[in-house]
This record gives sequence, structure tokens and C-alpha cells, in this order.
Amino acid sequence: DTGKSVSTSRLVIHQSISSNDQNGFAQDVRPGLTATPKTLKPKYLYDPLGSLLFEAICLLPEYYLTRAETEIFERRAVEIVAQLPAPITVVELGSGSSIKTRLLIEAILARQPRLCYQPIDISETILEQSAKQLLEDYSGLRITAHAADYTRGIASIERRDGEKVLALLLGSNIGNYMPDEARELLRQIRNALRPGDGLLLGADLKKSRETLKAAYNDALNLTAAFSRNLLLRINRDLNADFDLRQFKHRAFFNEGQSRIEIHLVSLTEQIVNIRGADAQPALQVEFQSGETIHTENSYKYDLEALAALAKATGFTPSRVWFDSGGRFSCNFWLA
Ligand code: AVJ
Repeated sequence: DTGKSVSTSRLVIHQSISSNDQNGFAQDVRPGLTATPKTLKPKYLYDPLGSLLFEAICLLPEYYLTRAETEIFERRAVEIVAQLPAPITVVELGSGSSIKTRLLIEAILARQPRLCYQPIDISETILEQSAKQLLEDYSGLRITAHAADYTRGIASIERRDGEKVLALLLGSNIGNYMPDEARELLRQIRNALRPGDGLLLGADLKKSRETLKAAYNDALNLTAAFSRNLLLRINRDLNADFDLRQFKHRAFFNEGQSRIEIHLVSLTEQIVNIRGADAQPALQVEFQSGETIHTENSYKYDLEALAALAKATGFTPSRVWFDSGGRFSCNFWLA
């Protein structure tokens, strides 16, 4: 017994059936690896090890995003939460460890005695851990969590009479979405909200290609490990035989599309067998030397693009805050 306990009445964790299950994974891996060019969806990066690796990335000197957003919350949390009248409930898409969110939670609990926090995350392990920690630390908190991908989670927002909803999409999580997908996601969020609710959108900004490139090519090679772990996951969960040593991490800034692209590059001509990828017999994937699997995009925004995004999705931009280095933006939009 650790001496720590949490009254389960303050915590509910809902699991979506298809977000983490092997069928969903297999059903996405198969078309992704038989397409040209080959792709894999970034949401599958967040298995238990992948989630831990991402938490570690957030501590790297080159990965400025988390520190910049945290600085904004340290300085502005009171002002941010004051954009909506109390009482509010908070829904967070891609909550992860919820560490930055603590600053907002504290500012909210300073003006209302109780708060219902509704985190949504693809990683059930991280969701469970962070929820338990939060409940130990904040007695006024109640948590209704969803282990699910975003679109499943937002459909189930809870609100009590008289409460406004503050939706959070932080850390530049929006950056993983192609422009049309980003608009679709934001429209879905807008549809789940009512007029007078708000969205806080953390978006990384366009900047020098050197700074951007370094953030995704760290000296410790954690970002490479984070990407290559996706192959480890396919080996384990789909009974495949990727030789991780034969794939190299490559991340570069694509100026025309204003995005960091992350690829896994095959170092040799090779064939990989995936026995669990919904295929009888095993799916055989052929790689040319130098051929890549595109695993991630990380879009970098400017203020004009953010304004256009708000307009296209039914939001009214109302405030924007920056870190002292002007690297990152937190945008408050009214529904
Ligand atoms: C969690 C999507 C915001 O794009 O910066 C970090 C993911 N990938 N390093 C990002 C990521 C490699 C991250 N997001």
C-alpha cells in the first residue's frame, strides 16, 4: 500500500472500444504500408513507451514548444481562465500528462470551489496515471476521462446547468492535422460547444528553419526513438519483423507547406513481414533503399492562418498570448 488513494467516486474513465484496439491498428497499418508513398498515422505513436518518450521529448533543450506554452500559462493563467465567466468545466483533447494544464486548473479552482475536468487521450496508461495524481493534489477536482481519439471523446462532453465549457487543444497538437483535417476537427469541436463557450488553442509559430529542424532532430536522439518505436509497436502488436536498425529518422522543414515532416527512411532494400495486419497470408511490405514511411507532420502557423482557421470553423478569435521568445501562441476563441 502506497498510502495514496483516491476516492473512485471522483474518477470515471471511459474506454472507447475502437481507439486502442488491435483491429483499428491493423486496419490502419495495412493500407498505410501498401500505399505509395507509405504512411502511418501519428496517433499510433502513443503506446505506453511512446507516451513516455514524448514526455521526455518535452524536457529536451531543443524542444521549445512545451516550455514556451508553460511560460504563457505561468504568466497568464488567471487572465486566460477569466475569458469565461465561472463556473466552467474543462475538456482537454490530447491531455497526456496534464502537467501544463495544472496551471489552468489552479487558476480555475481559485475562483470556483469545484471543477469537472474531462481529459481525452489516446493513451489509457498516461490518462489513468495523470488523473490519479491530479485527484490527489486537488480536492475540488472531479475527473471524467475518455481513453479515445479526439473525435470520439468530444461527442461526450458533460456540462452542468449554468456551466460554460472551456475546451483545450494545447501543445500544438493541431499541428499533426493536414489543413482540411484541422478544419474538420475544429468544426467538430465547435459543434460540441455552445455559443459563449471557449476554445484555447496552443499553436506553434513559423520560425527559422534551423530552430524548427533542431526541435525535431535532438542531440539525444529521443525524437528518433519516438518515431522508430512505432515500428517496435508494429512488431509487437501485429507480429511483424521490422529490423529497427535498418530504418533511420528524418525530420525537415517543408517551407511550402509550412510543416515539419517526419519520415522513417529504409536504409536498404528489404522486405518486412506483418503477420497480424489483417492479412492471410502475412502482409509482405517491400522497401527500396531510401524509401520512406511518412509518420508525422507538424504544421507551423502564422497569425493570419490562425485567424482564417477560426473564421472557417465558426469561432471568433478573442485573445492571443505569446511566450517571451515569440515562438508559440495560445489563442482564445469564442464559440
Ligand atoms: C504532440 C504533435 C505537438 O508535433 O511537435 C514531437 C509531436 N513529434 N516530436 C509535435 C512530436 C516529434 C508533437 N505534437
